[in-house]
Amino acid sequence: MSAGESTYKTLCVSCHGELGHGDGLAGKALSEQPSNIYEGLNSWFEPEYELIDTVLNGNEGMQAWGSVLEEKDVKNIFAYIQKING
Ligand code: HEC
Repeated sequence: MSAGESTYKTLCVSCHGELGHGDGLAGKALSEQPSNIYEGLNSWFEPEYELIDTVLNGNEGMQAWGSVLEEKDVKNIFAYIQKING
């Protein structure tokens, strides 16, 4: 298992779902729905550094992960999401 895969499965899958499409079980209970990470990564108007910033510093619907993860961890997660959808 790659570093990105284990981190994703530990911290993110509950909300963002198996493939990162935002359909995790815990996410369904939230008022704000988790984003489709794969779509975000492949969207020209959401540069990767902004997505990394969202993960590290949080957003309306999501806590900040900056105390647990570094930029390279987030990049590993994104690489994993790209790979399983590719
Ligand atoms: C408790 C549920 C929950 C968990 C756990 C969670 N997220 Fe999120 N995430 C959300 C919600 C809700 C949003 C959408 C609202 C927002 O952007 O604030 C979001 C948004 C995002 C976005 C922004 C996507 C975009 O297109 O702007 C990314 C990237 C992301 N999450 C990655 C992650 C990663 C990586 C992890 C694991 C380290 C993670 N999330 C864990 C709920 C969660």
